[in-house]
Amino acid sequence: MSRAEKKATLAFAIATVAALGLAVVYWTGGQPQIEGALLGVGFAGIGYGMVTWANHILADGHHVQEREPLSSLASDRAAFETDVERGGEIGRRTVLLKAMGAAVGAMGVAALFPIRSLGPRPGRSLSTTPWHDGLRLVTETGQPVRAADVPLDGLVTVFPEGLPGSADGQAVLVRVRPELIRAAPGRADWSPDGYLVYSKICTHAGCPVGLYEAQDHQLLCPCHQSTFDVLRGARPVFGPAAAALPQLPVRIDADGFLVARGDFPVPVGPSYWHRS
Ligand code: FES
Repeated sequence: MSRAEKKATLAFAIATVAALGLAVVYWTGGQPQIEGALLGVGFAGIGYGMVTWANHILADGHHVQEREPLSSLASDRAAFETDVERGGEIGRRTVLLKAMGAAVGAMGVAALFPIRSLGPRPGRSLSTTPWHDGLRLVTETGQPVRAADVPLDGLVTVFPEGLPGSADGQAVLVRVRPELIRAAPGRADWSPDGYLVYSKICTHAGCPVGLYEAQDHQLLCPCHQSTFDVLRGARPVFGPAAAALPQLPVRIDADGFLVARGDFPVPVGPSYWHRS
């Protein structure tokens, strides 16, 4: 084995050890500095080995080969046979190939380990919120919202009962004159006596939609000025948001409190990840 081939083999061996070390460090809890160093050594070893080997295989300078019958000389054939018999050139290349395969394979195995960091599958948790039938609407302090306490053209931020501050359950309650509402088919009873509830999470990029222009019956997102028509299912009428704010169906219970009739019909939040 030539000097260059020895160097390449050593580089591949070092890369293999570094990759295996990276896997072990990651599996035992991880240490970013050590992981970075091992990753660097691994890639550097593979790169150095491949370049060294390639330089050894490729001859220097320009070479011109005459067009002539491609037959080998008797002396070349004899040399090749000798190599085969004593495990010469072919044997060395096999060692090099195995060393390189081990290094690349070890790096591949090490690269699989971060999959563990992705955590459990989210399941349906991204498509649903804590709202369900029978949950009262409560304020940020956990107080149930009595319908009669909401002023006409007023806005109240509400949460599912027992979960004040809920990130995906936050919603805005707006009270308008019932005769103004242009409910979509099947939603006529979602807003009793003019109480409309929409998700507070903007469908553009997720900012809280907290501004209400009572005169125009429009909800505004302060981040990029998306504007939603409260009377028509909170469909966007201005700005970058492309989807309506999901509406929460509600009713008024026997004690006069506002109560959810179920969850939002579609996932809340930015629409780009769940709609085509
Ligand atoms: S996040 Fe609401 S308009 Fe951009």
